[in-house]
Amino acid sequence: MGRVALAVVGGIAAFAIAAALIGFAAGHYTNATTTVTRTGGSAPAASAGPSNLSPSVQAGAHDFVLFACSQCHGAQGRGGVSPAVPALTSAGKTLTVAQLRTIIDHGLGASANPKQPYMPVWGEVMSNTQVTDLVAYIRAGLPNDPNAQPVHVPYDEAPAVAGAALYQRYGCINCHGPSGLGGIPNPLSHDKVIPPLSGGGFHHDFPTDKAIADVIRSGSVIGKAPIVSMPHWGGILTDAQIADLIAYLKTLK
Ligand code: HEC
Ligand code: HEC
Repeated sequence: MGRVALAVVGGIAAFAIAAALIGFAAGHYTNATTTVTRTGGSAPAASAGPSNLSPSVQAGAHDFVLFACSQCHGAQGRGGVSPAVPALTSAGKTLTVAQLRTIIDHGLGASANPKQPYMPVWGEVMSNTQVTDLVAYIRAGLPNDPNAQPVHVPYDEAPAVAGAALYQRYGCINCHGPSGLGGIPNPLSHDKVIPPLSGGGFHHDFPTDKAIADVIRSGSVIGKAPIVSMPHWGGILTDAQIADLIAYLKTLK
């Protein structure tokens, strides 16, 4: 008897929680337009929103910005950033799901010419779900999601302030961690982790602005996939942006 009563009470509680969640979701979606206004987002006010996109394509659109794919391949993969980086607008038709997965997991072109931008290795840095979502987004033709915007860079403020935004916009944060603290696993590399960009070891190995700028510009290929290497940013980042990034790194621990 007692058990039955408990089960009934439990059932009612679960029902109440579910009802509350539905209520929250309903309010949440009805308020969507207000939310955009409140955060002062740069999304076009009249936009219909990305609701016509599947959840996986929406997530892929955001991953494309968070992992800075858009900083090398252009917004929505339309190219125009560097002659060395192809547009991705036809990749969804010419490449199969399996080929796209392999390219994102293992990179492309690094060994062919380490002096030019190459497609970085992402397998250790991303989850399978993130790769699946990116593939879905590319296969869907890289549609516009007005909420998937790269971080704004305040170039009119101090170099270190612009550099902090660039650190996110160009996805350095995904590999080197917040505040350059490091710790992101790179199991087959010598150090087992992607190096931090702070602390005594970093300052010892990279004592001058020039030493830091050189490695950002050229990248550093430390092995074949699945080892993650430092991407080559020359021709992608300008000298002024690299100087801003260094100013930011010098404010860290
Ligand atoms: C540092 C610049 C850079 C970044 C960041 C970058 N890529 Fe690439 N990507 C390249 C370059 C360069 C190539 C061409 C490599 C080659 O063909 O040798 C490429 C090639 C590709 C290709 C193959 C295109 C084709 O038609 O063969 C795909 C797909 C791709 N990238 C997806 C992505 C995705 C998804 C991301 C984000 C997770 C990303 N890239 C981030 C530089 C970059
Ligand atoms: C895909 C992951 C990845 C991304 C994205 C990335 N890095 Fe790196 N970075 C690495 C790896 C791996 C190394 C270690 C290379 C080595 O040991 O030679 C490295 C090394 C460095 C170093 C030299 C530190 C050292 O101890 O070797 C600097 C400075 C650096 N990265 C800055 C940046 C900046 C700035 C950005 C963003 C514009 C960035 N990185 C984006 C993976 C990445």
